[in-house]
Amino acid sequence: MRETEILVVGTGIAGCAAALAAAREGANVLVVTKAERPEDASSDWAQGGISTTGTDPEGFKQDIIAASADTADEAAVDVLVKNADSAVEDVLVDTLGVEFDLDSETEEFDYTREAAHSEKRILHVDASTGKHILRPFLHYLDDHENVEILEDTAALQLITHEGRVHGAMLDTEKTGEPVFAGTTVLATGGIGDLYERSTNPAGSTGDGIAMAALAGADVADMEFVQFHPTAYAGEEPFLLSEAVRGEGSLLRNGAGERFMPDYHPDAELAPRDVVARAVQDEIDSTGEVTLDVSTLDEPFAEAFPDLAAKCEEHDVDWDSGIPVAPCEHFLCGGVDVDDRGKTTLDRLYAVGECARTGVHGANRLASTSLLEGLVWGLRAGEDAVGVEPEPVEAPDLLDRDPDLPPRFAAEKFHRLRRVMDEYLGLRRDPTEMARAQGVLRRLKGEVDAYIRTRTARDLYELRNASVTALLISRAAAGNEESVGCHYVVSEDEKAAATADD
Ligand code: SIN
Repeated sequence: MRETEILVVGTGIAGCAAALAAAREGANVLVVTKAERPEDASSDWAQGGISTTGTDPEGFKQDIIAASADTADEAAVDVLVKNADSAVEDVLVDTLGVEFDLDSETEEFDYTREAAHSEKRILHVDASTGKHILRPFLHYLDDHENVEILEDTAALQLITHEGRVHGAMLDTEKTGEPVFAGTTVLATGGIGDLYERSTNPAGSTGDGIAMAALAGADVADMEFVQFHPTAYAGEEPFLLSEAVRGEGSLLRNGAGERFMPDYHPDAELAPRDVVARAVQDEIDSTGEVTLDVSTLDEPFAEAFPDLAAKCEEHDVDWDSGIPVAPCEHFLCGGVDVDDRGKTTLDRLYAVGECARTGVHGANRLASTSLLEGLVWGLRAGEDAVGVEPEPVEAPDLLDRDPDLPPRFAAEKFHRLRRVMDEYLGLRRDPTEMARAQGVLRRLKGEVDAYIRTRTARDLYELRNASVTALLISRAAAGNEESVGCHYVVSEDEKAAATADD
C-alpha cells in the first residue's frame, strides 16, 4: 500500500503539466504510466505543433469555434485563449527550453499554419513537435524532488468511498496494489485502439474514461470521434501533418484532380471533419487520394525532413503523391470537467484527451490538443493540491482463475474494432448505431464475466475499451443531428446510395 498527495495517471503533456504544477506548489506527486517508456504517449507523436494566439487572440477564439461548427463552449475557449501564450512561454520555453523552429532570416519563431487557422500561429519543431516537448518535460520531472514516475504500471480501477475518489488500484501486485491519493488526476489519453487504423500509440484504450465512468463520473460529447484526413493509406498508417497542407500541398483524387474546392470554400484548409469526409468520398468514388507535395514552396524533404524520412521508411515515393486516407485521431469528448479539470466526482480530475473541457465541441481545431493538455494540466495540478490521502477500504480484485489465453483479448478487440469501424466511423447510420450498441453491450457483458476473477492488464484494457466503445455508441445513437465529427446519414442519402448500387 502506498500513499501520495497527488496521483497522476498518464505521462502525456497533460499529465506532465499537472505533475509540474502540483510539484511547484510543494505537493508530493506520484505519476504512473502503463507504458514501458513513459514517452510512449500520444503527445510524443504529435506532429504539427502547438498553437499560440498569434497576432490576434480573438481570431484564434473564433477559429476554434468555427472549426467546432459553433459547438465549442465559449467560456472554455476563453480559458484556453487567455492562458495559451503564458503557459507556452512559462513551461515550454522558459522551464524546458524547447527550441521551436526559428525563421532563418528574422531569427523569430517560424510560425506555421494548419487547416481552419486564419493565420500562421503554430509553434513547431520540424513536424515532430510532440517529442521535442515531451522528452524534456519527462527529464525535468524525473529530476524533480517532489515527483516520482513509475513506468509499466497500469491503474486498474479507481478507489472510491461515499462518492469520493481516494486513489487507484495499480497492477504492481497480482490482485492490485492500492495507492491512496489526496487527489487523483486522470491523463490517460485517447481511444485509438478502438479502431483498426489510428494515429495513436498502441495501448490507447480509453482507460481513464472507462475508470471514471465506472466510478460514476459524467462523460460528455463521446460521439465526437475525430478522424484525421491525411494518414498514410498503406498498412501501417502514419500521420502526414496538416501543416503540409497549411504550407500549400494539395489533395488529388484517383483521376489526379484537385477536389477540395468543390467541397468547401477553404478547400484543403477546411475544418478537419469536412476534409476527412471528402477524402473518404473521393477514395470511394475514384479509388485513391494522394497528397501532392510538389506545390510546396520548398522541396518536401527540406520543408518536412522527418516526414520525408517516414515516407522513405515506408518506401513511399512522394514525387508521385503520397496515398492518404482518414484515420482515427482524437476524441473530442471524454470525462466531463470544469475549467480546472475537476470531474463530477470529488477529488477526481481529468486532463488532456481523456477529458471533455468543451474547447473542441464537435470538432477540434488543429494544434490545440497539446495546448489544451498543457493549460488544463497546469490548472488541474494547481487546484488539486492540499488534500491529504485518506486510506479507505480498497476494492477486492480477485485473481483466482487461470489467465486467459492471449488470443482471448485479441479476438474480442478484433470484434470491437470491426463494430467501431463499420458503424461508428466517419458516416453513421441510425439503424447501424443501434445495432452497434447491442453488440458492444454483449461484448462488455462477456468481458465483465471474466474480469470478476482475474486481474490481467490486457483484460482490464479490453474492459476499458468496451466501456468506452459503449459510451461512444450510446452518445452517437442518442444524437440525431449531424454536427462536426458526428455525421448521421440521412434517409435521402441512403436511398441515393441504394440507387447507385
Ligand atoms: C497534425 O499535425 O496534423 C495534427 C495536429 C493535431 O492533431 O492537432
